[in-house]
Amino acid sequence: MAVPQHVAIILDGNGRWAKKRGLPRSLGHKEGCVTVEKTVEIAARMGIRYLTVYGFSTENWKRSADEVGALMQLFRYYMVRLLKIAKENDVRVKMIGDKTRFDGDIIAGIDRLVEETKDNRGLTFVIAVNYGGRDEIVRALRRVAADCRDGKIDPADIDDGMFEGYLDTAGMPDPDLLIRTSGELRLSNYLLWQLAYTEIYVTDCLWPDFDEAELKKAVEAYEKRERRFGGVADGK
Ligand code: IPE
Ligand code: IPE
Ligand code: MG
Repeated sequence: MAVPQHVAIILDGNGRWAKKRGLPRSLGHKEGCVTVEKTVEIAARMGIRYLTVYGFSTENWKRSADEVGALMQLFRYYMVRLLKIAKENDVRVKMIGDKTRFDGDIIAGIDRLVEETKDNRGLTFVIAVNYGGRDEIVRALRRVAADCRDGKIDPADIDDGMFEGYLDTAGMPDPDLLIRTSGELRLSNYLLWQLAYTEIYVTDCLWPDFDEAELKKAVEAYEKRERRFGGVADGK
């Protein structure tokens, strides 16, 4: 089996990584950003086509103001670095989630990253920020309802394929492999629609410790799986 076309990651464990070292959580997040950068380069080299990373959930706003503030500062800093890395590695950056809740300069930074890399043809790196699977579905539903009201679509014509076109991930293939670091066995509101038939791999490795060897282990485990879609191998 070939490398997975689309790998989705729930990066978890930055806080635990910092705690183990007696450091503030913000330093765990900083180290986690370095791991994101490296993972983008490694995935591009491995021939993975789409990498979708969960950076900040709709629930993460409930963390302390200090932690949320530190995370926003890190976004500001790493968006600039990411632009450089994306250009050097022919990476196209996309963003999923509701960016409208961020400060104006962060929104501008996201827009710049997406715009300046849109013609790159290598890996598509998707950052999920202020992302929640339920929020994505609700936002999509609002647009579907508005199009029904305006007479652009008929409710009878709504099916899986049409609905997908309203999601933030419109036009992207569903993830083949989901990796969650730090051992938790839950989805934490990630890509609820898109993960319907994704293979799941959980490692105890804390996100800042995740490296090329860990990604290869996950891909090797995936390659040994027999994918099933409703009891048949190809879903047809
Ligand atoms: C993941 O690490 C990063 C974000 C959710 C922003 P955590 O901050 O959740 O780390 P733990 O789970 O407390 O170790
Ligand atoms: C999931 O991690 C969200 C992100 C990685 C951005 P959390 O640490 O927020 O999730 P829970 O609370 O353990 O489910
Ligand atoms: Mg966590």
